[in-house]
Amino acid sequence: MLNTRAKNLSPSPTMAIDGRAKKLIAEGVDVVNLSVGEPDFDTPETAKAGGRTAIDQGFTKYTAAAGIIELREAIADKLRRENGLDYSADEIVVSNGAKHSLFNVFMVLLDPGDEVIIQAPYWVSYPEMAKISGGTAVIVKTDASTGFELTPDMIERSLTAKTKAINLNNPCNPTGVVYSREKLQAIADIAVRNNLMIISDEIYERLTYDGAEVVCMATLGPDVRARTITVNGFSKAYAMTGWRLGYTASPKPLAKAMTELQSHSTSGPSSITQKAALAGLKGDRSFITTMREEFDKRRRFAMERLRSIQGFELEVVPSGAFYVFPNVTKLFGQTIGGGKVETTDDLCLAILDEARVAIVPGSSFGSPEHVRISYATSMDKLREGFDRIEKLLTANVATAALR
Ligand SMILES: Cc1ncc(COP(=O)(O)O)c(C=O)c1O
Repeated sequence: MLNTRAKNLSPSPTMAIDGRAKKLIAEGVDVVNLSVGEPDFDTPETAKAGGRTAIDQGFTKYTAAAGIIELREAIADKLRRENGLDYSADEIVVSNGAKHSLFNVFMVLLDPGDEVIIQAPYWVSYPEMAKISGGTAVIVKTDASTGFELTPDMIERSLTAKTKAINLNNPCNPTGVVYSREKLQAIADIAVRNNLMIISDEIYERLTYDGAEVVCMATLGPDVRARTITVNGFSKAYAMTGWRLGYTASPKPLAKAMTELQSHSTSGPSSITQKAALAGLKGDRSFITTMREEFDKRRRFAMERLRSIQGFELEVVPSGAFYVFPNVTKLFGQTIGGGKVETTDDLCLAILDEARVAIVPGSSFGSPEHVRISYATSMDKLREGFDRIEKLLTANVATAALR
Protein backbone atom coordinates (compact mmCIF):
# COMPACT_ATOMS: atom_id res chain seq x y z
CA MET A 1 0.00 0.00 0.00
CA LEU A 2 2.73 2.47 0.98
CA ASN A 3 5.29 4.08 -1.26
CA THR A 4 9.01 3.97 -0.56
CA ARG A 5 9.02 7.42 1.03
CA ALA A 6 6.43 6.39 3.59
CA LYS A 7 8.15 3.07 4.26
CA ASN A 8 11.41 4.87 4.96
CA LEU A 9 9.88 7.20 7.53
CA SER A 10 10.90 6.84 11.17
CA PRO A 11 8.52 8.11 13.83
CA SER A 12 9.77 11.06 15.88
CA PRO A 13 11.48 9.28 18.81
CA THR A 14 10.98 12.12 21.29
CA MET A 15 7.26 12.00 20.55
CA ALA A 16 7.35 8.23 21.15
CA ILE A 17 8.67 8.45 24.71
CA ASP A 18 6.52 11.49 25.42
CA GLY A 19 3.53 9.47 24.14
CA ARG A 20 4.36 6.53 26.37
CA ALA A 21 4.72 8.82 29.39
CA LYS A 22 1.43 10.55 28.57
CA LYS A 23 -0.31 7.18 28.22
CA LEU A 24 0.93 6.16 31.67
CA ILE A 25 -0.23 9.52 33.08
CA ALA A 26 -3.65 9.02 31.43
CA GLU A 27 -3.83 5.62 33.14
CA GLY A 28 -3.38 7.40 36.45
CA VAL A 29 0.31 6.58 36.91
CA ASP A 30 2.25 9.37 38.61
CA VAL A 31 4.96 10.11 36.02
CA VAL A 32 7.31 13.09 36.14
CA ASN A 33 7.72 14.11 32.53
CA LEU A 34 11.18 15.55 31.84
CA SER A 35 11.04 14.65 28.15
CA VAL A 36 9.10 17.64 26.91
CA GLY A 37 10.33 20.17 24.36
CA GLU A 38 7.97 23.02 25.18
CA PRO A 39 7.95 25.79 27.78
CA ASP A 40 5.62 25.10 30.69
CA PHE A 41 4.74 28.82 30.74
CA ASP A 42 1.40 30.08 29.51
CA THR A 43 1.15 31.97 26.21
CA PRO A 44 1.44 35.70 27.05
CA GLU A 45 -1.85 37.52 27.51
CA THR A 46 -1.11 39.96 24.65
CA ALA A 47 -0.91 37.09 22.16
CA LYS A 48 -4.02 35.39 23.56
CA ALA A 49 -5.94 38.67 23.30
CA GLY A 50 -4.81 39.04 19.69
CA GLY A 51 -6.20 35.58 18.94
CA ARG A 52 -9.49 36.31 20.70
CA THR A 53 -9.95 39.58 18.83
CA ALA A 54 -9.30 37.81 15.52
CA ILE A 55 -12.10 35.37 16.30
CA ASP A 56 -14.49 38.08 17.53
CA GLN A 57 -13.86 40.26 14.50
CA GLY A 58 -14.32 37.40 12.08
CA PHE A 59 -10.69 37.31 10.96
CA THR A 60 -11.21 33.64 10.29
CA LYS A 61 -10.69 33.22 6.57
CA TYR A 62 -7.80 32.18 4.31
CA THR A 63 -4.82 34.51 4.35
CA ALA A 64 -2.01 35.04 1.87
CA ALA A 65 0.00 31.80 1.56
CA ALA A 66 3.15 33.40 3.02
CA GLY A 67 1.19 34.95 5.89
CA ILE A 68 -0.46 38.34 6.38
CA ILE A 69 1.65 41.31 5.39
CA GLU A 70 1.36 43.01 8.82
CA LEU A 71 2.89 39.95 10.50
CA ARG A 72 5.67 39.60 7.94
CA GLU A 73 6.46 43.29 8.39
CA ALA A 74 6.45 42.93 12.17
CA ILE A 75 8.80 39.93 11.89
CA ALA A 76 11.11 41.89 9.57
CA ASP A 77 11.03 44.68 12.15
CA LYS A 78 11.88 42.25 14.97
CA LEU A 79 14.75 40.77 12.98
CA ARG A 80 16.12 44.25 12.33
CA ARG A 81 15.74 45.48 15.91
CA GLU A 82 16.74 42.42 17.87
CA ASN A 83 18.99 40.49 15.53
CA GLY A 84 20.62 43.04 13.26
CA LEU A 85 19.13 41.29 10.21
CA ASP A 86 17.79 43.29 7.31
CA TYR A 87 14.92 41.53 5.52
CA SER A 88 11.92 42.87 3.66
CA ALA A 89 8.45 41.39 4.21
CA ASP A 90 8.63 39.50 0.90
CA GLU A 91 11.69 37.63 2.13
CA ILE A 92 9.72 36.28 5.10
CA VAL A 93 7.50 33.19 4.87
CA VAL A 94 5.25 32.39 7.82
CA SER A 95 4.40 28.71 8.29
CA ASN A 96 2.68 26.30 10.68
CA GLY A 97 5.58 26.12 13.12
CA ALA A 98 9.34 26.18 12.62
CA LYS A 99 9.14 22.47 11.86
CA HIS A 100 7.00 23.28 8.84
CA SER A 101 9.37 26.11 7.89
CA LEU A 102 12.28 23.68 7.97
CA PHE A 103 10.33 21.17 5.94
CA ASN A 104 9.71 23.83 3.28
CA VAL A 105 13.42 24.68 3.28
CA PHE A 106 14.53 21.10 2.73
CA MET A 107 11.88 20.59 0.05
CA VAL A 108 12.92 23.58 -2.06
CA LEU A 109 16.66 23.21 -1.49
CA LEU A 110 17.58 19.58 -2.04
CA ASP A 111 17.61 17.62 -5.27
CA PRO A 112 17.81 13.82 -5.13
CA GLY A 113 21.28 12.87 -3.96
CA ASP A 114 22.15 16.33 -2.63
CA GLU A 115 23.90 16.13 0.70
CA VAL A 116 23.24 18.25 3.75
CA ILE A 117 25.72 18.27 6.61
CA ILE A 118 23.95 17.78 9.94
CA GLN A 119 25.76 17.80 13.22
CA ALA A 120 25.01 15.11 15.78
CA PRO A 121 23.72 15.37 18.44
CA TYR A 122 20.91 16.75 16.28
CA TRP A 123 17.30 17.71 16.70
CA VAL A 124 15.40 14.59 15.67
CA SER A 125 13.63 15.88 12.57
CA TYR A 126 16.55 17.19 10.47
CA PRO A 127 17.76 13.84 9.11
CA GLU A 128 14.20 12.72 8.42
CA MET A 129 13.42 15.93 6.56
CA ALA A 130 16.55 15.53 4.46
CA LYS A 131 15.45 11.99 3.62
CA ILE A 132 11.84 12.91 2.82
CA SER A 133 12.95 15.67 0.49
CA GLY A 134 15.08 13.17 -1.45
CA GLY A 135 18.41 14.41 -0.15
CA THR A 136 21.00 12.67 1.98
CA ALA A 137 21.78 13.61 5.56
CA VAL A 138 25.52 13.48 6.19
CA ILE A 139 25.73 13.14 9.94
CA VAL A 140 28.85 14.54 11.53
CA LYS A 141 29.19 13.32 15.09
CA THR A 142 30.47 15.76 17.67
CA ASP A 143 31.24 15.06 21.30
CA ALA A 144 32.51 16.76 24.42
CA SER A 145 36.05 16.98 23.03
CA THR A 146 34.94 19.91 20.84
CA GLY A 147 32.27 21.07 23.30
CA PHE A 148 29.64 19.45 21.03
CA GLU A 149 30.57 21.94 18.33
CA LEU A 150 31.11 21.35 14.66
CA THR A 151 34.65 22.42 13.75
CA PRO A 152 35.80 23.70 10.35
CA ASP A 153 37.98 20.62 10.10
CA MET A 154 35.02 18.26 10.55
CA ILE A 155 33.06 20.09 7.89
CA GLU A 156 35.94 20.13 5.41
CA ARG A 157 36.35 16.37 5.83
CA SER A 158 32.65 15.79 5.11
CA LEU A 159 32.47 17.83 1.93
CA THR A 160 31.84 16.05 -1.37
CA ALA A 161 30.86 17.23 -4.83
CA LYS A 162 27.25 16.69 -3.76
CA THR A 163 27.28 18.81 -0.60
CA LYS A 164 24.54 21.40 -0.94
CA ALA A 165 24.05 22.78 2.55
CA ILE A 166 25.13 22.90 6.16
CA ASN A 167 22.41 22.68 8.78
CA LEU A 168 23.07 24.41 12.07
CA ASN A 169 21.00 24.67 15.22
CA ASN A 170 22.15 27.52 17.42
CA PRO A 171 21.42 27.31 20.38
CA CYS A 172 21.32 23.58 20.05
CA ASN A 173 18.64 21.11 21.06
CA PRO A 174 19.69 18.79 22.74
CA THR A 175 23.15 19.95 23.89
CA GLY A 176 22.39 23.58 24.80
CA VAL A 177 25.51 24.72 22.98
CA VAL A 178 25.69 28.31 21.72
CA TYR A 179 28.30 29.04 19.05
CA SER A 180 30.60 32.04 19.43
CA ARG A 181 30.85 34.61 16.64
CA GLU A 182 34.33 33.39 15.68
CA LYS A 183 33.24 29.78 15.35
CA LEU A 184 30.18 30.71 13.32
CA GLN A 185 32.33 32.87 11.08
CA ALA A 186 34.68 29.94 10.42
CA ILE A 187 31.71 27.79 9.39
CA ALA A 188 30.28 30.58 7.25
CA ASP A 189 33.65 31.00 5.49
CA ILE A 190 33.59 27.33 4.48
CA ALA A 191 30.07 27.75 3.12
CA VAL A 192 31.07 30.79 1.09
CA ARG A 193 34.25 29.16 -0.23
CA ASN A 194 32.38 26.00 -1.28
CA ASN A 195 29.19 27.67 -2.49
CA LEU A 196 27.01 25.97 0.15
CA MET A 197 23.69 27.04 1.59
CA ILE A 198 23.30 27.40 5.36
CA ILE A 199 20.12 26.40 7.17
CA SER A 200 20.28 28.21 10.51
CA ASP A 201 17.66 27.11 13.01
CA GLU A 202 17.67 29.83 15.67
CA ILE A 203 14.42 28.96 17.42
CA TYR A 204 16.02 29.02 20.90
CA GLU A 205 17.74 32.40 20.32
CA ARG A 206 16.03 34.10 23.27
CA LEU A 207 16.86 31.33 25.75
CA THR A 208 20.54 31.76 26.59
CA TYR A 209 22.42 31.89 29.90
CA ASP A 210 25.76 32.82 31.45
CA GLY A 211 25.95 35.87 29.18
CA ALA A 212 25.92 33.77 26.01
CA GLU A 213 24.52 35.67 23.05
CA VAL A 214 23.23 34.27 19.82
CA VAL A 215 24.90 35.71 16.78
CA CYS A 216 22.56 35.26 13.84
CA MET A 217 24.35 33.52 11.00
CA ALA A 218 23.00 35.88 8.33
CA THR A 219 24.55 38.92 10.06
CA LEU A 220 28.05 37.70 9.17
CA GLY A 221 28.24 39.56 5.88
CA PRO A 222 26.31 39.97 2.62
CA ASP A 223 27.81 36.83 1.08
CA VAL A 224 26.66 34.82 4.12
CA ARG A 225 23.22 36.41 4.16
CA ALA A 226 22.86 35.52 0.46
CA ARG A 227 23.20 31.80 1.24
CA THR A 228 21.47 31.58 4.63
CA ILE A 229 17.94 30.63 5.50
CA THR A 230 17.17 31.74 9.03
CA VAL A 231 14.49 29.68 10.75
CA ASN A 232 12.69 30.90 13.85
CA GLY A 233 9.24 30.81 15.40
CA PHE A 234 6.94 31.54 18.30
CA SER A 235 6.90 28.14 20.01
CA LYS A 236 9.77 28.67 22.43
CA ALA A 237 10.13 32.43 23.06
CA TYR A 238 6.35 32.99 23.15
CA ALA A 239 5.35 29.66 24.69
CA MET A 240 3.03 29.13 21.71
CA THR A 241 3.78 25.52 20.74
CA GLY A 242 0.14 24.59 20.17
CA TRP A 243 -0.65 27.68 18.13
CA ARG A 244 1.80 26.57 15.42
CA LEU A 245 3.73 29.48 14.00
CA GLY A 246 7.21 29.61 12.56
CA TYR A 247 8.94 31.56 9.84
CA THR A 248 11.92 31.77 7.53
CA ALA A 249 13.94 34.76 6.43
CA SER A 250 15.81 34.01 3.23
CA PRO A 251 16.79 35.38 -0.17
CA LYS A 252 13.75 36.18 -2.30
CA PRO A 253 13.90 33.27 -4.79
CA LEU A 254 13.79 30.79 -1.89
CA ALA A 255 10.99 32.70 -0.15
CA LYS A 256 9.02 32.65 -3.41
CA ALA A 257 9.56 28.91 -3.90
CA MET A 258 8.56 28.14 -0.30
CA THR A 259 5.46 30.30 -0.64
CA GLU A 260 4.44 28.40 -3.78
CA LEU A 261 5.10 25.06 -2.13
CA GLN A 262 3.10 26.10 0.91
CA SER A 263 0.26 27.42 -1.27
CA HIS A 264 -0.18 23.87 -2.59
CA SER A 265 0.22 22.08 0.74
CA THR A 266 -1.19 23.92 3.76
CA SER A 267 -2.04 27.40 2.36
CA GLY A 268 -1.31 30.20 4.82
CA PRO A 269 -1.10 29.38 8.55
CA SER A 270 -4.13 29.88 10.80
CA SER A 271 -5.45 33.44 10.52
CA ILE A 272 -6.15 33.50 14.27
CA THR A 273 -2.66 32.36 15.19
CA GLN A 274 -1.13 34.97 12.91
CA LYS A 275 -3.05 37.74 14.67
CA ALA A 276 -2.03 36.31 18.04
CA ALA A 277 1.62 36.28 17.02
CA LEU A 278 1.35 39.82 15.66
CA ALA A 279 -0.12 41.06 18.95
CA GLY A 280 2.60 39.17 20.83
CA LEU A 281 5.34 40.80 18.76
CA LYS A 282 3.87 44.26 19.23
CA GLY A 283 3.09 43.89 22.92
CA ASP A 284 5.18 43.90 26.06
CA ARG A 285 7.90 41.28 25.82
CA SER A 286 9.27 41.41 29.35
CA PHE A 287 7.78 37.95 29.96
CA ILE A 288 10.57 36.50 27.79
CA THR A 289 13.13 37.78 30.30
CA THR A 290 11.06 36.42 33.20
CA MET A 291 10.82 33.03 31.52
CA ARG A 292 14.53 33.00 30.71
CA GLU A 293 15.45 33.84 34.30
CA GLU A 294 13.26 31.04 35.58
CA PHE A 295 14.80 28.58 33.10
CA ASP A 296 18.23 29.68 34.22
CA LYS A 297 17.40 28.89 37.88
CA ARG A 298 16.23 25.44 36.85
CA ARG A 299 19.28 24.91 34.63
CA ARG A 300 21.55 25.64 37.59
CA PHE A 301 19.50 23.37 39.80
CA ALA A 302 19.62 20.56 37.21
CA MET A 303 23.39 20.89 36.84
CA GLU A 304 23.80 20.82 40.62
CA ARG A 305 21.69 17.67 40.92
CA LEU A 306 23.55 15.94 38.09
CA ARG A 307 26.81 16.42 39.97
CA SER A 308 25.63 14.10 42.72
CA ILE A 309 23.82 11.44 40.67
CA GLN A 310 26.15 8.56 40.06
CA GLY A 311 26.66 7.56 36.46
CA PHE A 312 25.38 10.87 35.03
CA GLU A 313 28.22 13.03 33.81
CA LEU A 314 27.54 16.52 32.46
CA GLU A 315 30.53 17.06 30.17
CA VAL A 316 29.57 20.44 28.70
CA VAL A 317 27.72 23.24 30.49
CA PRO A 318 24.64 24.11 28.40
CA SER A 319 24.31 27.84 27.79
CA GLY A 320 21.11 27.80 25.72
CA ALA A 321 17.71 26.10 25.17
CA PHE A 322 16.19 24.17 28.12
CA TYR A 323 17.92 20.81 28.28
CA VAL A 324 20.80 19.12 30.04
CA PHE A 325 22.53 16.35 28.13
CA PRO A 326 24.65 14.16 30.42
CA ASN A 327 26.78 11.22 29.36
CA VAL A 328 25.46 7.98 30.89
CA THR A 329 27.85 5.37 29.51
CA LYS A 330 29.14 4.58 33.02
CA LEU A 331 25.77 2.99 33.70
CA PHE A 332 25.99 0.59 30.77
CA GLY A 333 26.40 -2.96 32.04
CA GLN A 334 24.50 -2.26 35.26
CA THR A 335 21.35 -4.08 36.31
CA ILE A 336 18.57 -1.62 37.07
CA GLY A 337 15.12 -2.79 38.11
CA GLY A 338 15.90 -6.38 37.20
CA GLY A 339 17.01 -5.63 33.63
CA LYS A 340 20.50 -5.20 32.26
CA VAL A 341 21.15 -1.70 30.92
CA GLU A 342 23.28 -1.87 27.79
CA THR A 343 22.09 1.22 25.97
CA THR A 344 20.70 4.68 26.58
CA ASP A 345 17.28 3.33 25.47
CA ASP A 346 17.44 0.58 28.11
CA LEU A 347 18.31 3.19 30.70
CA CYS A 348 15.46 5.54 29.79
CA LEU A 349 12.98 2.69 29.79
CA ALA A 350 14.23 1.48 33.18
CA ILE A 351 13.94 5.02 34.54
CA LEU A 352 10.41 5.35 33.14
CA ASP A 353 9.25 1.95 34.36
CA GLU A 354 11.02 1.88 37.73
CA ALA A 355 11.27 5.54 38.76
CA ARG A 356 8.34 6.88 36.76
CA VAL A 357 10.40 9.66 35.21
CA ALA A 358 10.38 10.29 31.46
CA ILE A 359 13.66 11.39 29.88
CA VAL A 360 14.80 10.94 26.27
CA PRO A 361 17.51 8.52 25.10
CA GLY A 362 20.41 10.16 23.29
CA SER A 363 20.02 7.63 20.46
CA SER A 364 17.07 9.78 19.32
CA PHE A 365 19.54 12.58 18.70
CA GLY A 366 22.28 10.47 17.11
CA SER A 367 24.21 10.35 20.39
CA PRO A 368 23.74 6.96 22.07
CA GLU A 369 26.05 7.86 24.98
CA HIS A 370 23.70 10.47 26.43
CA VAL A 371 20.22 11.23 27.73
CA ARG A 372 18.28 14.47 27.36
CA ILE A 373 16.59 15.89 30.42
CA SER A 374 14.28 18.86 29.86
CA TYR A 375 13.97 21.49 32.58
CA ALA A 376 10.95 23.09 30.93
CA THR A 377 8.88 22.07 33.90
CA SER A 378 8.26 23.41 37.40
CA MET A 379 11.04 23.38 39.97
CA ASP A 380 8.95 21.03 42.14
CA LYS A 381 8.57 18.51 39.34
CA LEU A 382 12.22 18.83 38.42
CA ARG A 383 13.23 18.18 42.04
CA GLU A 384 10.90 15.23 42.27
CA GLY A 385 12.24 13.82 38.98
CA PHE A 386 15.86 14.04 40.10
CA ASP A 387 14.98 12.61 43.53
CA ARG A 388 13.39 9.59 41.90
CA ILE A 389 16.27 8.99 39.49
CA GLU A 390 18.81 9.35 42.29
CA LYS A 391 16.89 6.96 44.51
CA LEU A 392 16.63 4.35 41.75
CA LEU A 393 20.31 4.50 40.90
CA THR A 394 21.43 4.53 44.52
CA ALA A 395 19.34 1.42 45.17
CA ASN A 396 20.51 -0.42 42.06
CA VAL A 397 24.02 0.66 41.24
CA ALA A 398 27.09 0.10 43.36
CA THR A 399 29.35 3.13 42.88
CA ALA A 400 32.42 0.94 42.82
CA ALA A 401 30.94 -1.04 39.94
CA LEU A 402 30.58 1.96 37.64
CA ARG A 403 32.64 1.73 34.47
C1 LIG B 1 15.66 22.81 17.29
C2 LIG B 1 14.22 22.88 17.00
N1 LIG B 1 13.83 23.37 15.81
C3 LIG B 1 12.53 23.45 15.49
C4 LIG B 1 11.55 23.02 16.35
C5 LIG B 1 10.10 23.11 15.91
O1 LIG B 1 9.39 24.09 16.54
P1 LIG B 1 7.89 24.44 16.15
O2 LIG B 1 7.06 24.14 17.33
O3 LIG B 1 7.91 25.91 15.83
O4 LIG B 1 7.51 23.64 14.96
C6 LIG B 1 11.90 22.50 17.60
C7 LIG B 1 10.86 21.99 18.52
O5 LIG B 1 11.10 21.31 19.47
C8 LIG B 1 13.27 22.44 17.93
O6 LIG B 1 13.67 21.96 19.12
